[in-house]
Amino acid sequence: MCGIIGYIGKSEAAPILLEGLRRLEYRGYDSAGLAILNGELSLRKCKGRIANLADLIAREPVCGSIGISHTRWATHGGVTDENAHPHFDQSGKLAIVHNGVIENYQTLKDQLIAKGHFFKSQTDTEVLAHLIGIHYDALPGEASRQRLVEAVRGALKEVIGTYGIAVMHQAVPGTLVGARRGSPLVLGIGKGENFLASDVSAIVGHTREAVYLRDYDIVALDGVDFEISTVNGGTSGFEVSTVEFSEDDVSKGDYPHYMLKEIFEQPDSMANAFRGRLSTEESTAKLGGLNMTPKELRDIERIVLTGCGTACHAAMVGEYLLEHLAHIPTEVEFASEFRYRNMPMNKDTLVFAISQSGETADTLAALRESQRKGHRTLAICNNVASTIARESDGGVYMHAGPEIGVAATKSFTSQVGVLTLLGLLLGRIHHLSTSEGIQIMEELNAIPDKVRTILKQSDYIKSIAEKYSYAKAMMFLGRQFSYPVAMEGALKMKEISYIHAEGHPSAELKHGVIALISPEVPSVFIAPDDSVFDKNVSNIEEVKARKGPVIAIGTEGSTKLEKVADDVIYIPPCPDFLSPLLSVIPLQLLSYHLAVKLGCDVDKPRNLAKSVTVE
Ligand code: AGP
Repeated sequence: MCGIIGYIGKSEAAPILLEGLRRLEYRGYDSAGLAILNGELSLRKCKGRIANLADLIAREPVCGSIGISHTRWATHGGVTDENAHPHFDQSGKLAIVHNGVIENYQTLKDQLIAKGHFFKSQTDTEVLAHLIGIHYDALPGEASRQRLVEAVRGALKEVIGTYGIAVMHQAVPGTLVGARRGSPLVLGIGKGENFLASDVSAIVGHTREAVYLRDYDIVALDGVDFEISTVNGGTSGFEVSTVEFSEDDVSKGDYPHYMLKEIFEQPDSMANAFRGRLSTEESTAKLGGLNMTPKELRDIERIVLTGCGTACHAAMVGEYLLEHLAHIPTEVEFASEFRYRNMPMNKDTLVFAISQSGETADTLAALRESQRKGHRTLAICNNVASTIARESDGGVYMHAGPEIGVAATKSFTSQVGVLTLLGLLLGRIHHLSTSEGIQIMEELNAIPDKVRTILKQSDYIKSIAEKYSYAKAMMFLGRQFSYPVAMEGALKMKEISYIHAEGHPSAELKHGVIALISPEVPSVFIAPDDSVFDKNVSNIEEVKARKGPVIAIGTEGSTKLEKVADDVIYIPPCPDFLSPLLSVIPLQLLSYHLAVKLGCDVDKPRNLAKSVTVE
């Protein structure tokens, strides 16, 4: 997916657009560009990172106080200067930036070519620019804001697909037009200036008053005011929200990378997930956002958890948690599978869509499919007012603060934290005693300090990462609550260090995985002091017998691991079901330090983007 920004006001647009793009670079970084309107449209765009665009603009400055800009994650067309946004219409007087996928772009392109249009790029976005332009030129009357809005409206009625767009026209210099369907778009309300952005983090340095546009909204804005209507011509109600976080929250501060900052934020982000949700007088969790009565909660017979990537790994921990704490049958399905699987589910099945960004296309589609079948579908999200949060029947916000690094870290532990609260809540309305509830809450409240203890080992973990930086492949292994952590550790390692990494249940070694073990393939065992510790030790010995190096994550005091593993990273003791909140931290640091050692771009790994809003 991509990042877009629009600005209209009294300041020079180029610096504001560049600064905003830097905040959105996690959304895509194949190419970047901007267009400024100052009598005529001036275009600057190039492949590569935003720094390349900044250099281009330093060499060829562009002035004006209205502009649009874009950072790209390629969908249609390769990574080239021509395919970078913004794109113009046939007249060269209309410019657009776009996040999303126009599914019927080829049909539309063929129709436009038949009318004599020619295209400079391979993108679907350029087709949309030409379509809006042809609508604009066909409309009667003088150049006006309304004419531009009608042109956008007319074009979008022909479009199948997703879009978050910002449009401007040379003949209408005082207006920006934005529209969205399926891709996020936020209107930022400033003082004498207004903004459009894919993500409010791009403009929080200028304003914290925002309108989260909804699907089919069209907004026309100038430096003073704005007007929101819909693609079908109706009016659209809107709500002005105040952004929860500040500009500091979206800056790296003293950290070299967002990922490291967000790893170190976890004591606070986990505390925020619990804050106000643990009731000592009732020794249970309070999750008002579920919008469900105790009776409705008690009637739940089955739970399905769905998400993508790290969110799905958190869901896998949730499966063990909910069955352990609440004895409710729980199933996990990747959202991209769930949406097509047509899973038999009775009406008392509760579905959770888990998503940090709240915009992941497959997870949104899974939510919509679940609701289409009549199931109450709740969300566990981080981004307030995101599409998944808004379309769900209720849910729980993670309150983790913005997560900018492409590799999810604090969002995983916050999602697992919320799922633990859900397990406590459901357990206490079924079979958990008051004293058990109190004990669980005490253990939860102790977690942030235990995470701080682990974080103090960052330099030690860095030394281990550097020792194994020769690895061409790595195995991550765990049992029970630690199996999903093994999956998550493997994902972290592969996505930022590009080392091939696999996660498996430890016992799967003898069913094929052990064939890959060799002195060049280190294995990471998540082996806390739990009910299957001895089984894990046996698996470690199987690996050592085949000269496979072993890094073990173990519980403080578990000296047995030092006899079998090459390196051991210790975590404080905690109940089995809370161990994922601790054992994942060393894996996050291991992958981070190894990726840095290998010179990888930790915050913006190749081919990836922070939120995958395309399918
Ligand atoms: C994890 O490190 C990746 N960034 C990716 O797998 C991510 O978890 C996935 O795309 C889901 O994102 P979401 O939580 O925003 O829906």
